[in-house]
Amino acid sequence: MNALPVEFSSPPAPTPEGDAPHRPVLLQEVIAAFTAHGGGLYVDATLGAGGHSEALLEIPGTTVIGIDRDTRALGIAKERLARFGDRFIPVHGRFSEIEAHLAAHLAAMGKAHVDGILADIGLSSIQLDDPGRGMSFRMEGPLDMRMDVSTGETALDLIERLDDDELANVIYRYGEERRSRRVARCIKQAQVAGELSTTTELRRAVVRAVGPARVGGVDPATRTFQALRIAVNGELDELTALLDAAPRLVAPGGLLAIISFHSLEDRLVKQATRNRAVWQALNKKPITASDEEISVNPRARSAKLRVARRFMEDVAEDAGEDGGEDAGEDACGDASNNAEDGEDVASEDLS
Ligand SMILES: C[S@@+](CC[C@H](N)C(=O)[O-])C[C@H]1O[C@@H](n2cnc3c(N)ncnc32)[C@H](O)[C@@H]1O
Repeated sequence: MNALPVEFSSPPAPTPEGDAPHRPVLLQEVIAAFTAHGGGLYVDATLGAGGHSEALLEIPGTTVIGIDRDTRALGIAKERLARFGDRFIPVHGRFSEIEAHLAAHLAAMGKAHVDGILADIGLSSIQLDDPGRGMSFRMEGPLDMRMDVSTGETALDLIERLDDDELANVIYRYGEERRSRRVARCIKQAQVAGELSTTTELRRAVVRAVGPARVGGVDPATRTFQALRIAVNGELDELTALLDAAPRLVAPGGLLAIISFHSLEDRLVKQATRNRAVWQALNKKPITASDEEISVNPRARSAKLRVARRFMEDVAEDAGEDGGEDAGEDACGDASNNAEDGEDVASEDLS
């Protein structure tokens, strides 16, 4: 059973570093791995508010190239990390462009590789807590969901472009929503009727399809919002691109550390880091957050960290991706009284 995110509408508590808007997860565990490796040139591929980067930069002799596709996050991180001077290099870009982005910096430093890559996949609180981004059904906002608002299709554009079957497949594949056909039909009906421009209206359409009841404390719209967000941002393709590029970018002996937040992502990370021609997994099971961390940062509840060390040999293999087929469901009716289907949905959270 796939684990699902739960959204938290309340702002995160202030971090020990100050009032940064995003509390980095598994910080001690990440930093322990990089500290053991020592100083070097590291890439934080998901810079966000810069929490992990800040801690990496505290390791003596470290330079961090911080990448994010979200210009707002970059602005916040630049301000936070300004004190590190040219040891911090911010880059606006995506995982799928990482080799191109790093090429110029590596050339300027006379290096062929970096000493490690960190990625803390998913959404930051900066994105989740901004109603204008349309990421959360708990706040009224436009159906956007893009991490990079400067480019690409919004969630509404995507819904308008896809037909019922295509939309159902997205909702099934990325949300593992068993009632995907019914949900898709209700969403398309709302869109055609001109009643689908906000997060609230999207949630209403989903509730029409599956009913209002929560399963395991999870809102009925959670799966659909997750699916659309993953599709809008091409999240699994992006992660696959990062995992493909990592063996070429990380120096022999260097580190790859990935924090993921749901099983679709963790499956990809696990497959890639189990390629023994390339990586030595430093932990057999993913590292998860302590009860103490979860009590102060519920976001950490679903986090899984996998750390691997690059072997000296230069052999790479591709990691495949598996996907499910759509479940059969049909008409958009009023399902507000539907009985729950008894799915054991784990309560988890957005990154
Ligand atoms: C969970 S946050 C990272 C938070 C960060 N570790 C911190 O301590 O503040 C994830 C960030 O990664 C960015 N991101 C997600 N997918 C990305 C991709 N494919 N390419 C570049 N940035 C991405 C998001 O925009 C977001 O700012």
